[in-house]
Amino acid sequence: MTVIAIDGPAASGKSSVSRRVAARLGFACVNSGTLYRAVTREVLRQGADTSSPESIAAVLAGAEIACGIGDGGESFVRVNGDDAGAELSDAQVNSHVSLVAAVPAVRELISHLLRALARERPLVMEGRDIGTEVFPDTPYKFYLDASPEIRQARRDAEGGTDRVAARDRLDSTRKTAPLRTAADAHVVDTSHLTLDGVADAIVEKLRTLGIVPK
Ligand code: CDP
Ligand code: CDP
Repeated sequence: MTVIAIDGPAASGKSSVSRRVAARLGFACVNSGTLYRAVTREVLRQGADTSSPESIAAVLAGAEIACGIGDGGESFVRVNGDDAGAELSDAQVNSHVSLVAAVPAVRELISHLLRALARERPLVMEGRDIGTEVFPDTPYKFYLDASPEIRQARRDAEGGTDRVAARDRLDSTRKTAPLRTAADAHVVDTSHLTLDGVADAIVEKLRTLGIVPK
C-alpha cells in the first residue's frame, strides 16, 4: 500500500497540488474533504441540526455513502446516490462542514472508507488528518501551509464567501483528529510558491525517498 499524505489548512493548495503530484507519479488522487462535505450537505438537506452530534449520527446511520476512484483517476463520492456536484462547496456547506467533521462517528466512517480506497491502488490523498490519523504509518507525509491572509485572499479570488479562519479554528481545536502537523511531515510554506513550484518540491522529496515519477 502506498499513500502520499498531503495535509494542511484551507486554501493551502492541497487539492491543486495533489492533482499535479498524482499526475506526475501516475497515482490516483483522493480529496478527503469532499467526503466530509458530502455528509454535511446531506445533513443540511435533511434539515438536521449541525450542532447536534446525535442528529448528525442519525443522518449518518440512514445514509448510503459510496466512494471510489473515477476513470480520470480522481475520487468521487455519492450519498444516497447523489454526487451533489458544485453544491459541495456552497456557502452553507462551507459554514457547517467543520461542525459535522468534528463528530467522532463521522470521522470513523470516513476514515474507514479512505483506508479501503488505499487498498485498491497507490494514492495521493489530501485532507486534515491523513498523515496523523488515517495513515500514520506512511513514510510519505507533507504539510502545506501559508499565512492566513494569503489563504483568505486565494479563496476570495475564487469568488464566494468562504471564511477560512473560522474553519481553521474549529478544525485545529476539535477533540478528535484535529488539524496538526505530523512530527515526521515535510512542511512546505506555499505562501510565495506557484502550484508547480510546490509540486516540484514534493516530487523532489519523494524521489529521495524512493518514489520515482513515471
Ligand atoms: O479545500 P478546503 O481545504 O477548504 O476544504 P476541504 O479539504 O474540502 O475540507 C472541508 C472540511 O472538511 C474541513 O474544513 C474539515 O472540517 C473537514 N476535513 C476533515 O476534518 N478531515 C479531512 N481529512 C478532510 C476534511
Ligand atoms: O485544497 P486547498 O483548499 O488546500 O487549496 P486549493 O483549493 O488547491 O487552492 C486554493 C486556491 O489557491 C486555488 O485557486 C489555487 O489555485 C490557489 N493557490 C495558488 O494560487 N498558489 C498556491 N501556491 C496555492 C494555491
